Amino acid sequence: MTKKSAIFSEFEDVVDKLPDIIFILQEDLTVLFSNACARELFGSRAILSANNLSGLLLPEEREAFHASLPWKDGMSGEIQFLSENGAMTHAIWKVRALQKGRRTAWLFIAHDTTIEKQKDLDLLRFSNVIQRTINPIQITDASGNMVYVNPAFEKVSGYTSAELIGRNPRILNSGRHSKEFWSGVWQHISSGRIWVGKIENRRKDGSPIFMEVVLSPIIDAAGTILGYLGAHRDITEQKILEQQLIRSQKMESIGTLAAGIAHEVGNPLTAISSLVQVIQRTSSDGFAKEKLELINSQINRITRIIRELVDFSRPSTYIVKPTDINQVVRESLNIVRYGKKVKNISFELLFADEPLEITAVPDQIVQVFINILMNAVDSLEGRTGGILVSSRKKEQTVEVTIRDTGKGIESSELEKIFEPFYTTKEVGRGTGLGLWVSYGIVKSFRGDIFVESIPDRGSTFTVSFPVKG
Ligand SMILES: Nc1ncnc2c1ncn2[C@@H]1O[C@H](COP(=O)(O)OP(=O)(O)O)[C@@H](O)[C@H]1O
Ligand SMILES: [Mg+2]
Repeated sequence: MTKKSAIFSEFEDVVDKLPDIIFILQEDLTVLFSNACARELFGSRAILSANNLSGLLLPEEREAFHASLPWKDGMSGEIQFLSENGAMTHAIWKVRALQKGRRTAWLFIAHDTTIEKQKDLDLLRFSNVIQRTINPIQITDASGNMVYVNPAFEKVSGYTSAELIGRNPRILNSGRHSKEFWSGVWQHISSGRIWVGKIENRRKDGSPIFMEVVLSPIIDAAGTILGYLGAHRDITEQKILEQQLIRSQKMESIGTLAAGIAHEVGNPLTAISSLVQVIQRTSSDGFAKEKLELINSQINRITRIIRELVDFSRPSTYIVKPTDINQVVRESLNIVRYGKKVKNISFELLFADEPLEITAVPDQIVQVFINILMNAVDSLEGRTGGILVSSRKKEQTVEVTIRDTGKGIESSELEKIFEPFYTTKEVGRGTGLGLWVSYGIVKSFRGDIFVESIPDRGSTFTVSFPVKG
């Protein structure tokens, strides 16, 4: 053996041990040499029988591959081979020129990237699913800071992904769950378990979102927690419907109770009232007369409350007739605008052009709108502000929206405002019966009242009725 061939066999040994595919090719790409990795992939026979390298390519790849010719030293590209077992092999290749006198041979090195390609494809599929799903999804790092949110998450939260990445999900905290609640959740997931539950969050604009959430740790092969996945379902609408149902059931039972009490209290009250009047007329005692006057004013107050209570549940004795809601709202506005409190308030009106007819008792509907408008005025608490009143027809319903820029209502209070005697106003200023009575009236004409509110920004009351049928 010459020295040279000893070196060659040593070189061959080394090249056989390399993990990449190696060919030495003639200028016409005929295979001069292939290493063990190449032989294993293509089979020695296939290499021998292939005229040149392009015989080992996937047929549809050949044209593109030939387009890379003539090669230059250091050129590289991507290619798909057909392996001995018929599978496709993705590879990245690079060529080096081997100068042999005046002739050039090529050292062709290819690195199998089939697994990476598959992983890339899997990743693309998963990321597409996550990007496109309607479920809001959020991924955090191990310390709980967000590293990814999908478009659905941006949409429900009102934040852009740039505003959320790097932040703690606390930014969405509604303050409606206790510290203990959150530390319980955190303990649960940081010990590697999945947490499922319902939470109330807050959008960027301050309004509440109700979510059904699955929080699960993302764990690597060694069992280390890399981060957390939050998959959400927006149940805000469902929650609102649920609350409306509960409200209407509650109102019904409270209504029956209140009407009963009002009736029982009303009769003796009438008796007391007439006795007071008799004594007032017949007594000459100045002190007694003065006190009786006070008693009378208190009786009047009770009577007023009783009348409102009865109004709620008593079937109306007024006449039901076709009523143009625009007309009714205008009338209510005229009454409210005379008040002293409305000096700094600008009213904006956006009525539908057509008359919006419903079937109702106009005077009762006026009462509803006066109350909602007065509440809107009160919500501004003397500050400068605006009230937008608009009406529209939506398929088979007529809708009036009254939006104020007042103090707003906390989401925890939203349901209570329709309860009788719920008021946040000073004693004597509010009875807390306004919305309760309004709700009763609206329901009696098969309508509904809907509220949205953002604390410190304002509230929107929407009253809807079926179109006159
Ligand atoms: N537009 C509004 N903005 C803020 N709070 C409101 C608004 N409308 C109603 N409320 C809240 O609902 C409560 C109940 O209203 P209502 O039943 O009309 O009774 P009252 O006006 O006598 O207090 C109010 O005291 C107030 O706290
Ligand atoms: Mg009121």
